[in-house]
Amino acid sequence: MTVTAVIGTQWGDEGKGKITDVLAEKADYVVRFQGGNNAGHTLKIEGVTYKLHLLPSGIVRPNKVAVIGNGLVVDPRVLLAELEQLGKATGGEHGQLKLSDRAHVIMPYHLLMDQAEEAFKGKEAKAGTTRKGIGPAYTDKAARFGVRVCDLLEPEVFSSRLKLALRRAEALLEALGSGDLAQQLSFDSVYNEYLELGRRLEPHICDVPVLLDEARSRGSSILFEGAQGVHLDLEHGTYPYCTSSSIVAGNIASGAGVPPSAIDSVIGVVKAYTTRVGTGPFPTELNDDTGRHLSDKGGEFGTTTGRPRRCGWLDLVLLRHSHRLCGFTGLAVTKLDVLDGLPELKVATSYRGPGGETVMDLPASMDHLERCAPVYETLPAWPELNETEWAEIVEKGWESLPEACLGYLEYLERELGVPVVLASVGPSRSATIFRAV
Ligand code: GDP
Ligand code: IMO
Ligand code: MG
Repeated sequence: MTVTAVIGTQWGDEGKGKITDVLAEKADYVVRFQGGNNAGHTLKIEGVTYKLHLLPSGIVRPNKVAVIGNGLVVDPRVLLAELEQLGKATGGEHGQLKLSDRAHVIMPYHLLMDQAEEAFKGKEAKAGTTRKGIGPAYTDKAARFGVRVCDLLEPEVFSSRLKLALRRAEALLEALGSGDLAQQLSFDSVYNEYLELGRRLEPHICDVPVLLDEARSRGSSILFEGAQGVHLDLEHGTYPYCTSSSIVAGNIASGAGVPPSAIDSVIGVVKAYTTRVGTGPFPTELNDDTGRHLSDKGGEFGTTTGRPRRCGWLDLVLLRHSHRLCGFTGLAVTKLDVLDGLPELKVATSYRGPGGETVMDLPASMDHLERCAPVYETLPAWPELNETEWAEIVEKGWESLPEACLGYLEYLERELGVPVVLASVGPSRSATIFRAV
C-alpha cells in the first residue's frame, strides 16, 4: 500500500493530469481534495485527448475508483456532463466515481456572483477567474450559506437552504450593481433542476473518509491529485490573485478526510518553465520572442478557458517556497521537450527588490512582488530533438537524456534538495522516463 500526493508547484497547468494518469497505473483510488471545475487536466492516451475538469484523472482507467472529496466545490451539471462524455469516449470502460456527501455544490447563482464580483473589482483588481463560480461557492461554504451534496437528497432541507441562499445571492447581486443578473434566478426552476441532479448523482454519493479508511485497511494504494498550483493557494499563494481553496499537501487531510500521517510521499510537479493564467505578478514573465516561443511550442492555452497562458523562465523562488510548504519527496519535471533547441536556459535564483536588495523568499505584498526583478543563472540548453529522437531516449532510459538536460535536472535537485524521480518529454503516457532509484 502506498499513499502518494501529486501537487502543482507553480501557478497551475504543470501537467498534473498527465503525471496522475501515469502514476494511477499502480493506484487503486485516485482522489481530488480541493478546487472544482476551474481545473483543466489534459490527458493524451493512445491518440485520444481527455480534458477533465472535475473527474479525477485516474477515472480513464477501468478498475480504479475516482473520488471527489469534501474539500471540492462541485457543479453537478458539469460533473454529469463530463461523466457522460467519458462514457462515450471509453465505451463505458472507465473507473467508478465516488462523490463526497459533504462536498459543496456550485449553484447557478455562484456563476452569476463570479461574474458580478469580477466586474465589481474592475480591470485592475480582478483575479481573472475561470468564471466557474468557485470563489462564491467557497464564500458561501465559509459563511455557512452553502448547499452540500447531501442536501440535494433531502427535498425539505434543500428547499429551506436554497430559499435562504437565494435571498442572500439576490441581495448581494443587487449590492454589486448586477441586480439584473438576479432576474435569471427562480426558486422553482433551480429547486427542481438541482433535486433532479441530486437524484442522478445519488448512486455515486458516499462518506469519503469511511471509504478511504476502509481502502487503507485493505492495503489499497491511493493517489491524491492536486488541482491548480501552490502559488494559487488561498493561504500561501499570490493573494488576492489566487484561487479560493488551499492547494498545499497539508490540505489533503482536511479536503479528503484522511489523517496527515497517512501520506507517504508527495510528488511536486514542476513545469520546466513557468506559466500563469489570469492576472497577478509574475517576475520571470517573458514578453518577448522567447515567451512567444514557449507559448507556441508548449501549446500554452488554458484547458478550461482557452485563454493564452503567460510564459516565463523557471523560478526557484517559487519552487523553494512550494517545497517549504509541501515537503516534496520527489519531483516530476514536465515539458522538457519544449525547451529543446533554445540557445540557453535561464533560471531565477532570487529577485532584486525595489531598493536593490536581494529577495530570496516570496514577499507577502503583491505590490512588492510586482516590483521585484528576477536574478538569473544561465544554464546550457540542448539541441532540438524530434519526436522519434525523444522516443529513442525514453526507450533507452534516464542516462540517455541529453547531457545539458540532465544538468538542468541535477541543478534543480541540488537547489531544492529533492530528487527528480520522473521526467516528462511529451504529452502522451509513453513520453515519460522514470528514474531508477
Ligand atoms: P494540469 O492542469 O497541471 O493537469 O496541466 P494541463 O493539462 O492544463 O496543461 C498541461 C499541458 O501540457 C497539457 O496539454 C498536456 O497534454 C501537456 N503536457 C503534459 N506533459 C507534457 C510534456 O512533458 N511535454 C509536452 N510537450 N506537453 C506536455
Ligand atoms: P489546473 O488544475 C491555472 C486561476 C485563474 C485565476 C485564479 C482564480 O488546470 O492547474 P478561480 O476560477 O479559481 O476563482 O480563478 O486562479 N486558476 C488556474 N490557473 N490552472 C488552473 O487549474 C487554475 N484554476 C484556477 O486563472 O487567475
Ligand atoms: Mg490545467
